Amino acid sequence: MAAIETVIIPAGGLGTRFLPATKAIPKELIPVGDRPALQFGVEEARASGIRRTVLVTGPGKEALGAHFAPDPRLESALDARGQAALLEELRAIDRLTELQVVVQPEPLGLGDAVRRAAGAVAGEAAVCGLLPDDLFVGAIPLLRQLILAYERHRCPVVALRRCPPSEIGRYGVAAVSGSGPIFRVTDLVEKPGPGEAPSDLAVMGRYVLTPAVFAALERTAPGALGEVQLTDGIRGALEEGPVVGVEYSGRLLDVGTLEGWVRTLVELLPDHPRLGPVWRAALAAHGRSGPAA
Ligand code: G1P
Repeated sequence: MAAIETVIIPAGGLGTRFLPATKAIPKELIPVGDRPALQFGVEEARASGIRRTVLVTGPGKEALGAHFAPDPRLESALDARGQAALLEELRAIDRLTELQVVVQPEPLGLGDAVRRAAGAVAGEAAVCGLLPDDLFVGAIPLLRQLILAYERHRCPVVALRRCPPSEIGRYGVAAVSGSGPIFRVTDLVEKPGPGEAPSDLAVMGRYVLTPAVFAALERTAPGALGEVQLTDGIRGALEEGPVVGVEYSGRLLDVGTLEGWVRTLVELLPDHPRLGPVWRAALAAHGRSGPAA
């Protein structure tokens, strides 16, 4: 049984929720502490046993690929300055993944981005999908949790999280059977209107995708927001066989909006090896070292 080797990371969006910061810089390169948001996703995939990344980007977003490629000029400058530790850190980023970039000419939706990667993963029994807007924090990498479910059930897998009614309309939502944490998915609805959500289980941005999903995406018309939705492609795969959902353990931190990015920094930086002490000292200097009473 071949292991899953590849993750598809859609990163073709315009970053409108992050403007003006993302006018010239792809939102996936906005730093979270000492590294860009996208690197967290690639690191999660690597920690889950994935060796290859197909990055689906938009025109003008070449900097995304450059982040994972060697930069000889920078390397020789660091070498000349004797900055060996930093140099090794950069080389470790180059070794994180075997990267292939696919361009999505227009942002026509997540489903469109994923189907553009189909040629790059042809012949693979299953691949992972990861949306880099959410950083995972937890003991077992989230993609790993999904891969374990795939190895048991051999079908598409989605990550599920219970979500309050006020937020559920922002997500794909699953109707399920079974008692969890691994559910059988019976239906999926993208961005349900008020009162239309089939459950409180939202699809979060981690997937295992099989050829049945790619085939369904080929026949999927634009759906919610006028975009081709990955949720609808996975729903189409339900006609071919089962789909499972994993109510995962751990948490996802949103870095896809400015507000979420601020919350994520507040959550992650206190424990950062290099920046944590700086962060805490700066807060203390402003008289805000702990939560308000
Ligand atoms: C996308 C998916 C949606 C999923 C969400 C998770 O929506 O289309 O099904 O629930 O990611 O973050 P977006 O956030 O791109 O609107």
